[in-house]
Amino acid sequence: MKVKEERPFGHLGPRDANRDFNVEFSTTKRTLNKQQQLMNYLNLNKEKTADTVKELNVLLADYHVYYQKLRNFHWNIVGKSFFDLHVKFEEMYDDAKLKIDEIAERILTLRYQPISNLSEYLKLANVKESGSQHTDIEMVEDLLSDHGKLINQMRAVVGKADDAGDEGTIDLIGAYIRELEKTSWMLDAWRMNTSENHAQL
Ligand SMILES: [Fe+2]
Repeated sequence: MKVKEERPFGHLGPRDANRDFNVEFSTTKRTLNKQQQLMNYLNLNKEKTADTVKELNVLLADYHVYYQKLRNFHWNIVGKSFFDLHVKFEEMYDDAKLKIDEIAERILTLRYQPISNLSEYLKLANVKESGSQHTDIEMVEDLLSDHGKLINQMRAVVGKADDAGDEGTIDLIGAYIRELEKTSWMLDAWRMNTSENHAQL
């Protein structure tokens, strides 16, 4: 007479239980692999990082146009403010040059390529080119208006980086916002009359 085999795992035999475990294990592994595929080597979501890079490339374009405008104004400034503004604009374009490199290298760190052509920068930038016949006050007002556009674009970058949990980009661009706001305050103070006071602003 054949004795009925006792099954130690209730309705499943050991072989069946293992099969279930293997199926579950490979499903978890597949889910993990899928999640890993969504992340880049910095463990940042690729799709969200692409959105950040899009805004960083616009900022890069803005900075190129702004940089060349500062050189334009550095060369073409005339009048009583020449010595002050000639030096100030050089200081500002040196700073812009460093930031251009840092933005491009941040894009590369995020595993994307920075836009690298002047023709594309001109198409993409919020900042627009200026002529070379401005008075000193027109130059400063033009730059203050550009600062507003740059700061807006930086805030757009920070917003996307925040969605992606990208603290590195937030740290870099957040510092740029603070620095540009300070430079804007100085330019704004320069264009005020000495008879004006802060309470009137
Ligand atoms: Fe120079």
